[in-house]
Amino acid sequence: MRNTDRNIALVLICLTTIAALFASVFAATVPVVGEAPKLEHGTSLAVKDSCFACHSVIEGTSVVFKDDVHYHNAIGCAACHGGDPKEDDQNLSMSAKRGFKIRVTRQATPEYCGRCHRNARIMRKVKPQARVDQLASYRTSVHAKGLAAGHIGSAECVDCHGVHNIRAVSDPLSPAHPRHIAETCAKCHAATADLFRKSPHGPVFTSQVMPGCTACHASHGTQPASRAMLTGKKAVCTNCHDPGSAGAKAAAEIARLMARLETTGRGSKDILARARSAIHTFNTAAIKRAAEPALAENESARK
Ligand code: HEC
Ligand code: HEC
Ligand code: HEC
Ligand code: HEC
Ligand code: HEC
Ligand code: HEC
Ligand code: HEC
Repeated sequence: MRNTDRNIALVLICLTTIAALFASVFAATVPVVGEAPKLEHGTSLAVKDSCFACHSVIEGTSVVFKDDVHYHNAIGCAACHGGDPKEDDQNLSMSAKRGFKIRVTRQATPEYCGRCHRNARIMRKVKPQARVDQLASYRTSVHAKGLAAGHIGSAECVDCHGVHNIRAVSDPLSPAHPRHIAETCAKCHAATADLFRKSPHGPVFTSQVMPGCTACHASHGTQPASRAMLTGKKAVCTNCHDPGSAGAKAAAEIARLMARLETTGRGSKDILARARSAIHTFNTAAIKRAAEPALAENESARK
């Protein structure tokens, strides 16, 4: 080959490589949203799954995946990540051409999971009574709104359910099981969860009827916390405490305290935040202690 020919050949190779790269990047970033994946029934992962096989050797994702509820429902790696599980060559099995999607971002995860979970046709084939409202509720939540606003640390599906070792929520090892909810929320709300665990509610809020934090804040549709949770029509306390009981009295007293605190002067933001967190002691004296400096400031400002 003459030098010029070789150069032309090299340039051509480079160009096709660049074109292929571009194609793969663009194809791979096509949003997965809306595509309803097919679940093949009666197939088991023991059949042929090159993803599972190779990834049990390379970084061990498959090892934890054996405990995953999806694995037990014959849902393999490719159902979430795309690609071709029948192909041994990683360049083919993980190619954009075979539908492999590159990295999943935190913001994209809810829609990614929702592809199946909001789809009654897919879910009810596997489990006739399956709920399909998680994504819709989640979208209304303070967490979803935070994530959309760029708070990358706000909660999305995998923060509460894990990834690759996702379990049925009735499984006592699931982070979404009532026994573990407080510690799951504590990953991000540590101080609040700490107070909660030491409160009269802490030790008893571990069952389906009293599922930890979600008894008052919901799981998927968590709304901004407000004083309306304490008294009035939207109050959560009256779900369990009859009028006149110690719990109901505490709720009314805490509500009055919070109302006073919310009208205090500037500079008391931190104190208001501390008092809102201290609500999780469900102890009026402790909440008063947290609120005292702001209330004192309020008094002196009024004079
Ligand atoms: C022959 C081995 C092999 C096969 C087959 C294979 N992979 Fe991979 N995979 C790798 C290697 C090597 C990497 C890159 C190193 C790493 O991230 O651990 C990787 C990376 C990945 C990543 C991370 C990509 C990223 O952006 O970091 C995902 C997701 C993935 N593989 C899923 C799959 C799926 C789904 C299949 C089947 C359709 C599959 N793999 C098949 C070896 C393989
Ligand atoms: C139920 C959906 C689902 C299944 C099934 C699944 N994954 Fe993932 N995978 C995810 C999500 C979501 C992430 C992003 C995790 C995060 O944000 O921390 C991820 C991340 C990864 C990563 C890290 C690269 C990245 O994008 O951050 C690898 C590697 C990977 N998966 C491989 C696999 C393999 C191999 C299998 C099968 C043994 C598998 N996955 C099955 C949902 C899934
Ligand atoms: C991965 C971190 C993370 C996890 C896990 C998490 N949260 Fe949050 N949460 C946040 C962030 C960040 C915000 C602030 C909202 C935003 O992003 O702007 C928030 C906001 C909230 C709010 C509103 C607070 C207010 O000031 O009104 C409540 C209530 C809440 N979370 C409850 C929970 C509960 C209950 C759980 C567990 C079931 C939980 N969170 C799990 C990160 C998390
Ligand atoms: C803040 C924590 C949290 C987040 C974020 C979260 N979940 Fe959940 N999820 C839970 C808890 C707790 C349960 C237990 C039952 C309940 O309260 O609904 C649950 C239950 C489930 C169930 C079992 C069926 C049911 O509804 O009871 C599925 C499926 C599910 N979640 C999927 C998802 C998907 C998909 C996402 C993301 C769009 C998501 N979850 C986000 C905490 C969370
Ligand atoms: C390819 C379709 C598909 C995708 C994508 C998918 N799931 Fe699932 N998921 C299922 C099926 C099918 C089941 C089993 C039916 C059931 O138990 O409700 C299931 C079960 C679950 C359960 C247990 C439900 C229960 O009854 O306790 C949770 C939690 C869950 N998935 C969360 C997720 C999360 C989080 C993601 C995203 C990282 C995700 N799923 C992505 C199809 C899917
Ligand atoms: C899901 C049910 C439930 C909800 C909702 C609930 N509580 Fe309770 N609460 C209980 C149970 C059960 C106990 C008893 C714990 C024990 O026996 O030690 C309790 C105990 C208390 C106590 C200690 C005094 C007593 O009655 O034993 C106070 C104070 C209290 N709750 C306040 C509140 C306030 C304020 C709210 C609303 C923010 C609230 N509770 C919401 C179930 C609930
Ligand atoms: C018995 C009902 C109840 C339970 C259980 C509960 N909370 Fe709250 N939570 C409230 C009330 C009431 C407020 C304050 C409303 C206000 O702003 O006045 C609140 C406020 C909050 C806030 C905003 C203030 C702050 O602390 O930053 C967060 C976040 C929060 N809760 C998270 C949690 C977490 C995490 C758990 C479990 C560890 C939990 N809550 C358990 C009733 C509850």
